[in-house]
Formats: sequence, C-alpha cells, structure tokens
Amino acid sequence: MSREKIISENRAWIENTWKKLDEKLSKTAVKSRYKIPYSTKDGVHDDRSDDILWWTNGFWGGLMWLMYIGTQKDCYKRTAEESERLLDKAFGDMQNWNHDVGFMWHILSGVNYRLTGNRQSKNRNLIAAMSLMSRYNVEGDFIRCWNSWIGNENVSGWTIIDCIMNLPLLYWASDEIGDTRFEKVAKRHADMTMRDHVRADGAVNHIVVHDTEKADTVLGVRKGQGYAEDSCWSRGASWALYGFVLSYIHTKEQRYLDTAKRVANYFLAETEKTGWLPRLDFRQPETPLYYDSTAGAIAACGLIELSKHAEEIESEKFFSAALNILKAMEQNWCDWTEQEDSVLQMGSEMYTNGIHMPIIYGDYFFVESMLKLKGCEFLVW
Ligand code: GLY
Repeated sequence: MSREKIISENRAWIENTWKKLDEKLSKTAVKSRYKIPYSTKDGVHDDRSDDILWWTNGFWGGLMWLMYIGTQKDCYKRTAEESERLLDKAFGDMQNWNHDVGFMWHILSGVNYRLTGNRQSKNRNLIAAMSLMSRYNVEGDFIRCWNSWIGNENVSGWTIIDCIMNLPLLYWASDEIGDTRFEKVAKRHADMTMRDHVRADGAVNHIVVHDTEKADTVLGVRKGQGYAEDSCWSRGASWALYGFVLSYIHTKEQRYLDTAKRVANYFLAETEKTGWLPRLDFRQPETPLYYDSTAGAIAACGLIELSKHAEEIESEKFFSAALNILKAMEQNWCDWTEQEDSVLQMGSEMYTNGIHMPIIYGDYFFVESMLKLKGCEFLVW
C-alpha cells in the first residue's frame, strides 16, 4: 500500500488529533507564554527560565513555531517570539554552553529566521553554530558533548548519541554562510557516531569515551540514561534513527541512510513486542515495565522522513510503523483535558530517575510528527 493510501485511510484520525492539539495548545500558548516549560506539576507547566542553560529550553518555543506553521495563528507566533527573548539570558553565560545548542536554538531562532527573515534570530543561530564548531576536537576527531560537571570526572573525551541531532545546525550554517567547514565537521562527527555508537544489530551505545589526542580510539563505553552499558536506551536509539536520516537528507551520503535503516529495523522489532509503545530500554528487565513516550515521538518523526527516502516496500513498513506508534500513544498516553498543560504523558528521563512523566520534547516531537502526517514539508532540522 502506498504512503498516500495509508494517509487517506487514516485521514479522519490525523485531522481529529490535529484539531485536539490545536484546541488544547492554543489555550496553553497563552497560559504559559512567559514560561519556559520542561514538565508539569499538578497539571501546570513548570518554568525553567531560572535554569537558562537547560538543554530542553528551545522546545517550548519550537513547539509554538510548529503550531504556527500548521495553523497560522498569531497566539503561537507570539509565544514562540517571547520564548526566544527569554532564552537570550543564556548569552550571559556562554562559557557553560554545551553541545545541545542545536536543541536550544536551531528549532527556535533557526525556524524564526527561516519563516520571517528576522536578522537577530539568524545571528543567534549562527552564534550557536559557531559555538558547536568550537567543540570539535581536531586530534580526537569528534565533537565534545559536555563540560566537566560530573563530580571531578574528566569528560573531555566523551561523546553521546544525542549529538547527532545537533548536527543539522552545522549543515544549516554551512549553507547559510557558504562555509563548508561546518558541514565537514558535522560529517566527521556523524562518521564517528556511525562507527562507535551504532552496534551491528542497530542498537546504540549512549556514551562513548575517546582518546582526546588520537582519532579512532575508543577507551570505553558508559551506561548513561539506559539500563546498562550493553543495553539499549530507547531514546538514544530514536535520536540515532532521526539524526542519521537528517544527516542523509543534508549530505545525500548513502551510508547515513543505511545506518538510519539499521537502527529503525531494530527499534521497530523491539517496539512491536509491546503493542507499539516503546519501553525505556529495550534490554531492561521485564519488571518494572518502564516506558518512554518521547522515544516513540522522536522515532515517529524519523520513520516518516525515512519512508520518503527508502525503497517502496521498506517505505510502507516505516510509514505504517510511525502511524502505529503515534496511534498507540494517542490512545494510551495523551491527556486532552484542560486540567493538564502537557499532552503526551509517560516520558522518562532515565532508568534511575524521572519515570513516566510529561516532558516538553515529547509534546514537541508528537506535534512535529502530526504536522508531517498532515503533509507539511517544512523540515525544521
Ligand atoms: N539529551 C538528553 C536526553 O535525551 O535525555
């Protein structure tokens, strides 16, 4: 069955879900306009604007731009612009920025610039891209992820799978200012990620420790947010899935598409086992049964994009799987009431902490995937 046929068979569900999103989010857009939400407490959005460098601080404004793209309603645009203004406080502490500047600015200022031509937004995004470039370790041949905040541990050789999602910021800068060094560094990091983070079966390592003075030298693997060092954290797999499709779209390098497919096949085989609702870690013990809705929403975005670039038979498989995940999550995990500011519940921060809670990027990627299902071709990343 073609993608078009699958869409037409699911048209009523897609339109109805979008209507519910707009009904709920148009109210929340006004209610939470002067906050930078991360989660909710007793149903009310919290506010991370005092912790301005928190890596998720671009998602609320980014979500507002997605809703604006899908509806053209001014309430969303106003909140997105306010969010970008609030995030400017981060420019007062640039020494402590980390690799997550793509998550923070590319989906917020980057989108503002591309939609409205706002020069200040362009500059914010360029500064973010230059900051990410400055984290490239020339001898080790990777982008450093974090600064030293884990006790006294030296993390200068650490890379994490999540960074693959920050690379579109570099692809954008490369095109925007016509300086291909940005794309070249992104590709060096993507190649390292392919080699050192993605396993033969499509599972992924969250954290890899490298020699900072010598390229292609892995010193070890760390557990990170999943169950164990050799398990597979599902959000990490979803970052890899979507991130490699995006690297393929921006570079047209076949190896990135092949890697995305390998991760997708692993993700789908594991997620189908639990009725298309992703567990937090695909190799966690059977009990407690922890889930993570954010992994499902991120993977759905990646699968929809992947279906546009895969051969016909695989295309249908990836597209149907995205729909299966989104429909299962809508049925089981979405809260459409006015008593709760977030939509998607059952996100999980990590195996040891923050289980089954709403997390802002769950809503962000759920909306991004629904916008794609509605036929929107604007690629945020
Ligand atoms: N980037 C951190 C996380 O996915 O939780």
